[in-house]
Amino acid sequence: MASSRRTLGVWRRRVAVAVMAMVFMVLGYTGVAVMRSPYYLPYSEGVAGAAGGAAPARRGSDTQGEAALVAEEARATTSLHEDRHAAPLVVLVLSSMPRGGSTLLVELLSTIQESVVLFEPLWFIEKIKCFEDEACLTTYLADVFSCSFKEDFETWLKGKGLFFHYFNEQARHCLAEKNEAKATCLKDMNLRALCAAAPVVLVKVIRARLALLHNMLEDTLINLKVIHLTRDPRGSLNSIVRFGWNSDPQSRCGDLEDDLKTFEKVRQVFPSRVMQVRYEQLCLAPEATTRDIFSFLYANATLPGPVSGFLAQHMLSGVKKKGNMSTFKNSTQEFQAWRLKISENQLKVIEKEPTCQWSIKHMGHALFGSLAAANNLSLPLIINT
Ligand SMILES: *[C@@H]1O[C@H](CO)[C@@H](O)[C@H](O)[C@H]1NC(C)=O
Ligand SMILES: *[C@@H]1O[C@H](CO)[C@@H](O)[C@H](O)[C@H]1NC(C)=O
Ligand SMILES: *[C@@H]1O[C@H](CO)[C@@H](O)[C@H](O)[C@H]1NC(C)=O
Ligand SMILES: *[C@@H]1O[C@H](CO)[C@@H](O)[C@H](O)[C@H]1NC(C)=O
Repeated sequence: MASSRRTLGVWRRRVAVAVMAMVFMVLGYTGVAVMRSPYYLPYSEGVAGAAGGAAPARRGSDTQGEAALVAEEARATTSLHEDRHAAPLVVLVLSSMPRGGSTLLVELLSTIQESVVLFEPLWFIEKIKCFEDEACLTTYLADVFSCSFKEDFETWLKGKGLFFHYFNEQARHCLAEKNEAKATCLKDMNLRALCAAAPVVLVKVIRARLALLHNMLEDTLINLKVIHLTRDPRGSLNSIVRFGWNSDPQSRCGDLEDDLKTFEKVRQVFPSRVMQVRYEQLCLAPEATTRDIFSFLYANATLPGPVSGFLAQHMLSGVKKKGNMSTFKNSTQEFQAWRLKISENQLKVIEKEPTCQWSIKHMGHALFGSLAAANNLSLPLIINT
């Protein structure tokens, strides 16, 4: 622990250099200029405007000198510090649809000591043009993954209690305070520093477009691992419709199909950096699945005490608590509870939609064809694992 603290400064510099080098390749000099002054532009004003040509073409000797320096520094720091273990692990939990169990998985992993959680960081930019701009989105995510997000992001997150309470224990403590005390408590939290000092940074997103992560996975200086959490779309959509959110099967399953296909490609290139976890498996075999996750993250399948404790309390106890975001459930029943709740019409519409059909089959799940069959729990949902 002490040695990892000591190398923290080195690590932060390494990441900064790496991110700059990456941004240079993607955005050219303008991008580097933006990155070099972290508070140059708030996200809400759209870094998108800065996106220049893709190729780092000749733009004067100054620029070239700078690029060479950046590249050289990146190389030097790479060879000097072999101990990759010092870099905090960034675990991105990505699910293709809401109501897919990603909150549960993040809560489970957040029991890893001293971890911090950045819950749905994409909400902050969802409504602005940056979200639609690949270069801007990449820069934004790189900032999040390297704990170098800007002031306006920090202000937003602190103000969004529903998300911020996942950050860490201190955040929950602050949010429980009132008025003046709460404001002071929050003000005293330096999120960038807390994030950078954490051994594990958990990031939960829905729909990050897996393809976009390619650059960051390629960057050996950002210690990023991606968990793609999948769930039967009938289960997610049955829940989504109850929330009154967009439950159009075509667009929702289109995203899912897209992510499932991209995942297969990304896995070919980065087999040790991406993992797919099925919500159904997590529910049916919480301990075994969590051990698989720990093998993937740490090459160590032994679960730390708090993680086992969470599993026992939240997934194996059979106690169900009220509340939308509650994760207290008898998980062996929960994963297919939708079969008894879904309407005949919704079932038929989803099973007829080609992108949903493809995704359901890809997951190795059964198509039921009728409500009677869906309701009959002696017919297995999972036919191929
Ligand atoms: C594996 O993880 C467990 C629980 O966190 C820990 O006690 C143990 O020392 C780890 N083993 C290795 C070889 O790192
Ligand atoms: C959870 O549900 C399963 C399946 O119905 C049942 O066999 C099990 O006893 C339940 N567990 C608890 C702790 O209630
Ligand atoms: C759950 O969500 C629904 C719809 O958003 C809301 O009306 C309800 O108050 C929420 N319930 C709880 C316990 O948070
Ligand atoms: C449920 O499916 C099983 C296996 O196909 C069948 O034997 C049984 O009759 C079905 N139950 C109902 C109520 O349809």
